Amino acid sequence: MKNIQKDFPILQRKINGKRLVYLDNASTTQKPKIVLKALQDFYTTSNANIHRSIHTLSEEATGQFEDVRKKVAKFIGAPSAENIIFTKNTTEAINCIRLSWADQHIKAGDEIIISALEHHANLVPWQELCKAKKSFLKIIPLTHDFTLDLQAYQKMLSPKTKLVCLTSQSNVTGTINPIKQMVVFAHAVGARVAIDAAQSVGHRPMNAKDIDCDFLSFSAHKMLGPTGVGILYIKDGLINEMKPFIYGGEMVESVQEQSASYRTGPWQFEAGTPNIADVITFGATLDYLNKIGLKNIQAHDQELLFYAKKIFSHYPQVKIYSPAHIKNCGGVLSFSIEGVHPHDIATIFNEEGVAIRSGFHCAEPLMKRLDVNGTARLSFYIYNTKKDIDVAEKGLKKVLKTFKI
Ligand SMILES: Cc1ncc(COP(=O)(O)O)c(C=O)c1O
Repeated sequence: MKNIQKDFPILQRKINGKRLVYLDNASTTQKPKIVLKALQDFYTTSNANIHRSIHTLSEEATGQFEDVRKKVAKFIGAPSAENIIFTKNTTEAINCIRLSWADQHIKAGDEIIISALEHHANLVPWQELCKAKKSFLKIIPLTHDFTLDLQAYQKMLSPKTKLVCLTSQSNVTGTINPIKQMVVFAHAVGARVAIDAAQSVGHRPMNAKDIDCDFLSFSAHKMLGPTGVGILYIKDGLINEMKPFIYGGEMVESVQEQSASYRTGPWQFEAGTPNIADVITFGATLDYLNKIGLKNIQAHDQELLFYAKKIFSHYPQVKIYSPAHIKNCGGVLSFSIEGVHPHDIATIFNEEGVAIRSGFHCAEPLMKRLDVNGTARLSFYIYNTKKDIDVAEKGLKKVLKTFKI
């Protein structure tokens, strides 16, 4: 991963006259040259709509688009391309689970379990479903170590549990949940399991078949890919229990004046012109990540987390929200300083050229459980270095000096 920064032109930017130190990767990641080039190449040489025309350009674009479906399947250990649906992001993928599967299978009195670590994307759709169906939302609490209380989870599970929706890694605390074990518990009572892997795919090896989850969703933009591309993995056979969630062209097989029949497989969920260029560009992103190797990326994230935690722990004024064991945590470090608003922390970091996220991180109920009005968050990826964390420490010292803490 040495010299990888040269692959990312944006890292040449100056912010407030300082070198950009980008530590907001849990929000979105920067794009390597090879990805930028793939996007330009597509529009320069191959642009056409897919699955429609029989001219050369269209057939080429269709082939490239469908090749990426195969690549995605391989990347996450799915049995075939037919397990992969393209959406616009993780949020849309989770809403697809709600509208295409849960709407047909959740009934009054049924229970859905989520965890206290969920992003709004994996909370609000289930609140709405429970309201509509008169079903119940149960929330797995946290331990003092910012991990999920697995005993409480096991007690919550019953034949009433129809769906368990879990993040594989928190975007706030970085907690990596033991999803494989949690899937086994859920399946034992006959519940389906949907994994929100927005913070995990692209950060460490993830194998959907091995995890044995029923659904798994993630976003290309959080793993060096373009915005506007999400993925929903659906376990073999489960597609037969689902129906389309948006209707129109592309997803139909035959249309009469008063009715229509729909395509089978993932295509029934992809109505209208999809995000062709960005999906094809995502193929180049996967090649790039494969070349680097997910185990190397995981080790790099952990090394930076260990270093950042060590440095930030030197300051007694800083409260860190992160599991004690590094192995339970991805490359995310949330912290607060009593008496300083997280937006003030982020503003001062920005003066040093350091981009971090501050606020609720789309996890407002979690903030209430942590009893804070938001946190400041550093999040790492392949182009970050220990030097970046040293610059962040400069920002931290400036915050403490400014607020005389
Ligand atoms: C854990 C988690 N789930 C879901 C999302 C939503 O992702 P997107 O905005 O790409 O739909 C995010 C984004 O930060 C996230 O961190």
